Amino acid sequence: MPLRHLSSEVLCLKTLTCGTNPAWKTMLFLLLLTMLAIQTLAVMEVQVPEQPVVALHGSDAILNCSFSHANPFNLSDMSIFWQLTDTKRNVHGYWEGHDQLADQAESFANRTSLFPTQLALGNASLLLSRVVVADEGSYTCFVRVQEYGSAALLLQVAAPYSKPVVTLEPESNLRPGDEVALTCMAYGGYPEASVIWQDGGGRNLTDNITTSVVANEEGLFTMTSMLTVVLEPNSTYSCRLINPLLGEEGYASVTISGQNIGFPPVALWVTVGLAVCLLVLLIALAAVCRRKIKESCEEARREAEEGKELEEEESKTAMTPLKS
Ligand SMILES: *[C@@H]1O[C@H](CO)[C@@H](O)[C@H](O)[C@H]1NC(C)=O
Ligand SMILES: *[C@@H]1O[C@H](CO)[C@@H](O)[C@H](O)[C@H]1NC(C)=O
Ligand SMILES: *[C@@H]1O[C@H](CO)[C@@H](O)[C@H](O)[C@H]1NC(C)=O
Ligand SMILES: *[C@@H]1O[C@H](CO)[C@@H](O)[C@H](O)[C@H]1NC(C)=O
Ligand SMILES: *[C@@H]1O[C@H](CO)[C@@H](O)[C@H](O)[C@H]1NC(C)=O
Ligand SMILES: *[C@@H]1O[C@H](CO)[C@@H](O)[C@H](O)[C@H]1NC(C)=O
Ligand SMILES: *[C@@H]1O[C@H](CO)[C@@H](O)[C@H](O)[C@H]1NC(C)=O
Repeated sequence: MPLRHLSSEVLCLKTLTCGTNPAWKTMLFLLLLTMLAIQTLAVMEVQVPEQPVVALHGSDAILNCSFSHANPFNLSDMSIFWQLTDTKRNVHGYWEGHDQLADQAESFANRTSLFPTQLALGNASLLLSRVVVADEGSYTCFVRVQEYGSAALLLQVAAPYSKPVVTLEPESNLRPGDEVALTCMAYGGYPEASVIWQDGGGRNLTDNITTSVVANEEGLFTMTSMLTVVLEPNSTYSCRLINPLLGEEGYASVTISGQNIGFPPVALWVTVGLAVCLLVLLIALAAVCRRKIKESCEEARREAEEGKELEEEESKTAMTPLKS
C-alpha cells in the first residue's frame, strides 16, 4: 500500500519534471541539494537506545543519548535540546554553558536534568524524575558542537497491578446448574494487561468473558474481567494477569466446593441456628428464674423467721429493766 502510494508520487514527479515547465526541474534540483547539504551538516553521530526505554511509574528514568566528537571542545560551544518528537514540546535545553528552561513544557518542571560532568564525555543523557504515565512517548535528542545530529527514542511507562481478587456473584445459596458471575479485579497498573481465565485443569476459558478497563486521574488502570459460568460442583476458576511490559503479574482463584453449594440453603441454616439459640436461651432463662424465685422465697421465709426472733429478742431486752 505505502509502496504503491510512493510510486504514484514518483510518477507524479516524473510527469511534472518531464513536463513543459522547466521551473519544476530547478526546484527539484534545489531540493535535492538542500537535502544533501543537511546530510553533510548532520555528520555528528548521535546514539540512543533502539529498544523502548521502560520506566516504572513514579521512578526515575535515564534517557540515554551519546555522541562522538573527535576533538575536545568548550562546553559553551555546545547545545543540547531534548524535545517531544510528536508535539515538539520543549523538554530540556542547554546552551551557552548552562540549562535553558524558560520554554520548558510545564509538565516537566523540576523533573529534568542532564549530567553536567558527563557532557564533555559525549553523554547528553536526560534524567527524568518521578515518571508518570503521561510521559510516555517519543523523545528526540539534538546535539550540536560545530556539527549537528539528532536521534529519537521511545519511553514506555509500566506500573505493576495489585494482586487480583476473584469474587463470586451470588456468593451463597448456590446450586449446580446455576449461572454465576466470577469477577476478577486488579488496579493501579499500566499498560492494559491481558486477563486469562483458566479452569482447574489449566485449560483456557474463552467463553462469556467481558473485560473492562478504567483509568484513574494518574492514567493507571483498574481492570475488571467477568466470567459467566454454569456451576459445577468441585470446580476451580483462576484468573491470571499478564502485563505486556512486566510479564505475568498476579494470580487468584476460587474453588467452588460442595460447601459453597448449599442444601438446604444457608438462610435455612441460619434460621435453624437462631431457633436453637433462642430455645437454649429460654431454657437457661427459665432455670435462672426458677432458682431466683426459690431463693427469694427462702429469703422471705428466713426474713420472716429472723423478724420473729428479733421481735422475741426485743421483747426480751424490753423486759430486762423490769427484771432488775
Ligand atoms: C544507558 O547507557 C549505559 C551505559 O552505556 C547502560 O549501562 C545503560 O543500560 C543504558 N540504559 C538504557 C536504559 O539504555
Ligand atoms: C550518562 O551518564 C549517566 C550518569 O553517570 C549514566 O547513568 C548513563 O548511563 C550515561 N549514559 C551513557 C550513554 O553513557
Ligand atoms: C570557553 O569559551 C568561553 C567563551 O567563549 C571562554 O571564555 C573560555 O575561556 C573557553 N574555555 C576554554 C577552556 O577554552
Ligand atoms: C519547581 O520548584 C520551584 C522551586 O523549588 C517551585 O517554586 C516551583 O513551584 C516548582 N514547580 C513545579 C511545577 O513543581
Ligand atoms: C492459554 O492462554 C495463554 C495466553 O494466551 C497461553 O499462553 C496458553 O498456552 C493457553 N493455554 C491453553 C491450554 O490453551
Ligand atoms: C454463556 O452465557 C450464556 C447466557 O449468559 C449461556 O447460555 C451459555 O451457556 C454460556 N456459555 C458458556 C460456555 O458458559
Ligand atoms: C474434588 O476434587 C478433588 C481433586 O480433583 C478430589 O480429590 C475430591 O474428591 C473432589 N471432591 C468431590 C466432592 O467431588
